[in-house]
Amino acid sequence: MGWLTNLHNRTSIFTKVLVANAVIVVVGTVTTVTVATHVWHDRAAEPIVAVLFILAGLAISMGVNYGILRLAFRPMFALQVTLDRVRRGDFSARAPEVAGDPDIARVIEIANLMLDRLAEHRQAVASQVIRAMEEERKRIARELHDETSQSLTTMMVNLDVIEKQLPDPSDELAGRVRLTKEIAQRTLDETRRLMFDLRPSVLDDLGLVPALRWFVNQRVVPRGLQVEFQASGVDQRLPEELETALFRIIQEAVTNTVKHAKAKRVSITLQREPGEIRAVVQDDGHGFHPVHVVSKDDKDRGLGLFGMQERAALVGGTVRIDSGPGRGTTVSVSVPDRGRGRVAGG
Ligand SMILES: Nc1ncnc2c1ncn2[C@@H]1O[C@H](COP(=O)(O)OP(=O)(O)OP(=O)(O)O)[C@@H](O)[C@H]1O
Ligand SMILES: [Mg+2]
Repeated sequence: MGWLTNLHNRTSIFTKVLVANAVIVVVGTVTTVTVATHVWHDRAAEPIVAVLFILAGLAISMGVNYGILRLAFRPMFALQVTLDRVRRGDFSARAPEVAGDPDIARVIEIANLMLDRLAEHRQAVASQVIRAMEEERKRIARELHDETSQSLTTMMVNLDVIEKQLPDPSDELAGRVRLTKEIAQRTLDETRRLMFDLRPSVLDDLGLVPALRWFVNQRVVPRGLQVEFQASGVDQRLPEELETALFRIIQEAVTNTVKHAKAKRVSITLQREPGEIRAVVQDDGHGFHPVHVVSKDDKDRGLGLFGMQERAALVGGTVRIDSGPGRGTTVSVSVPDRGRGRVAGG
């Protein structure tokens, strides 16, 4: 009996119904032909003709049966394709609605509702994670500023005083003091770099455009890339969550260009239009297949592209990635403009 259970478990419902119908058709046809042969025994045809007759009847019935079942099961196949797209990372996929079969329509409706709930849950978790991450970064940057860099600065001032009071500037003790000052200065520079990467204070103090200029000059130009940066209509401050989202998305897109694209130039444009703010980061690098990246397993996938989409969604916006081998990459962001904000620099 084990093989029967095994066969039952491995056979799809479509095949089961197909086989069951085929059995009915075969039994029905054979019975009908047998009865007909006995009733009109005298006028019975040649056996070969009877067999051909049976086979033709069977082929036609099974073909019709197969066609009807394929049609009836089409919504289930569509559902399967949809769920497979979701499994591969396309969380916007939904199964098409069907008319005519209330049971299947209900299954599809429930599956689509489940996918909606899953998307909402995913979005809520992502937004919590992004907010918590941003808060934590701010906290650590503040700590580094208020504690570590203040202490290092005080240390440098004290070393300066000691150095000036040393009797012989060329002896070993003076050399050690100078070396200690150099180390303190390097550590201070490194701490400032870390503070900027965590949360650029210029973003909080002066706004998006100065922060982007700072980022480009400090992190991109020194890597030998030719950068073109244009901003229009963004003189006023934007709401904080918009500034953070746009800064992080552009930062990630440009960092990807620096890290992966082998590009010669990158252009960044930021534009405020009626009702929306648009940003485009375009490079002339070797490009990539966005679909291949999205369909990779979670463990092999970077967080950057995913994070961009989530950050944009958090402020009601979208990100479009247009790329392909040999034709560079264009990342376009569009977020709804939530009215005029604070004054830049204020
Ligand atoms: N501008 C680009 N040019 C060429 N390839 C790119 C570009 N942007 C992204 N990619 C490709 O897409 C992949 C995924 O990018 P993503 O930003 O998600 O991850 P990552 O940069 O590898 O890691 P992380 O951003 O988490 O540090 C990259 O590994 C790279 O192969
Ligand atoms: Mg990245």
